[in-house]
Amino acid sequence: MDTDKTNSQVSTLLSFFDRTFGGTEGVRVFTAPGRVNLIGEHIDYCGGFVFPAALTLGTYVAVRKNGTKDTVRLAATTIDGVRTFTLGDIESARNLDWGNYQAGVVKELMLLGVDIGGFDAAYLSTIPFGAGLSSSASIEVSTGLAVSELFGSPLTGKELALAGQRAENKFCGVNCGIMDQFASAMGLAGHAILLDCASVTHKYAPLDLGDSVLVLANTCKKHALGASKYNERRAEVATGLQEMNRIAKSHGNPEKPNLCAFNKAELLEYSPEIANDIIRKRVMHVVSENERVKEAVTLLEHANLTAFGALLRDANQSIRYLYEATGAELDAIFDATLDFPGCIGSRMTGGGFGGCTVNIVKASAVEEFKKHVAALYTAKTGNIPEFYVCEIGDGARELA
Ligand code: GLA
Repeated sequence: MDTDKTNSQVSTLLSFFDRTFGGTEGVRVFTAPGRVNLIGEHIDYCGGFVFPAALTLGTYVAVRKNGTKDTVRLAATTIDGVRTFTLGDIESARNLDWGNYQAGVVKELMLLGVDIGGFDAAYLSTIPFGAGLSSSASIEVSTGLAVSELFGSPLTGKELALAGQRAENKFCGVNCGIMDQFASAMGLAGHAILLDCASVTHKYAPLDLGDSVLVLANTCKKHALGASKYNERRAEVATGLQEMNRIAKSHGNPEKPNLCAFNKAELLEYSPEIANDIIRKRVMHVVSENERVKEAVTLLEHANLTAFGALLRDANQSIRYLYEATGAELDAIFDATLDFPGCIGSRMTGGGFGGCTVNIVKASAVEEFKKHVAALYTAKTGNIPEFYVCEIGDGARELA
């Protein structure tokens, strides 16, 4: 069934490529998935552990050299027209209404020494846009993979992830961490990824949920990462790190390279001395969330789904009340799950300020769950939510 779905995306994409650029001979097709993060939110940029998994939803890209020295042409099934930039003047692509993620990645590949010439690329995405499921990371990673392969300089998954992150940071102005690009590049079907963001090393953990499934509940309020809140949080935790180090030093203890290097005991000892309430709350979220990730992975290893689900709820309340990265819609859709017995756990996932929650729901109760949550959520917010039962898929790869 999965293969059927993929085949149909590929054939839709190839006909689109044909209509847009003419012919499909020599075209290669690559894909990179979006991700769901199970736990470990807003700590990838604090050297923490995160626990994402790749979805079977993704970006598909068809590419072919176009015989020019430096002209890049980009098109997407959902966007009218073709966007063009030249490799010699890649900076001007910053002003494109669409295509700057790709241009940012191309720039990073050139800096890595990939010998890129002109090419055409057509995109198709199955990831709901603005839902916090990393559609942008999947564009970056699929582009990085496609272009590096097309021009004969394959990169490792980790290199692709880092190039995508640098593109987003430097070219697109979002100061994101490494989680999304890493999950997109390195995903493994049926597994979550325990990623240590301090060292960018990982291990896979089988995601066995017994008789339950993962359901994404989309608030259908688009999150806007670029819209300053994300970068604001990053600045707050940078201040938080300075504060924790200042206090550690005054206690005669060594400084640490990042917030997640502090443990719970140190948090309890130092945080009361952080004078600014907001900074103290942000630090409390970051250090406690990192501890929760480690605990969650152990609980999952022992198939203790009930405790795992409870921890997901704790994590949600931490990001809601301490990190303040949810908002009315995410809060309403989370609260709507609390009195539903077939829901074992729920939390917001991704950058926040809109987007989705991830829920562990008994497979037999999924339809009831959707009805129950939709009724309460719509009554509270007036929005109509969407639901997707998620399958955990593989990372970036070539398809055809
Ligand atoms: C976005 C960013 C990630 C991460 C999450 C929050 O998805 O791209 O790097 O910080 O938000 O956990």
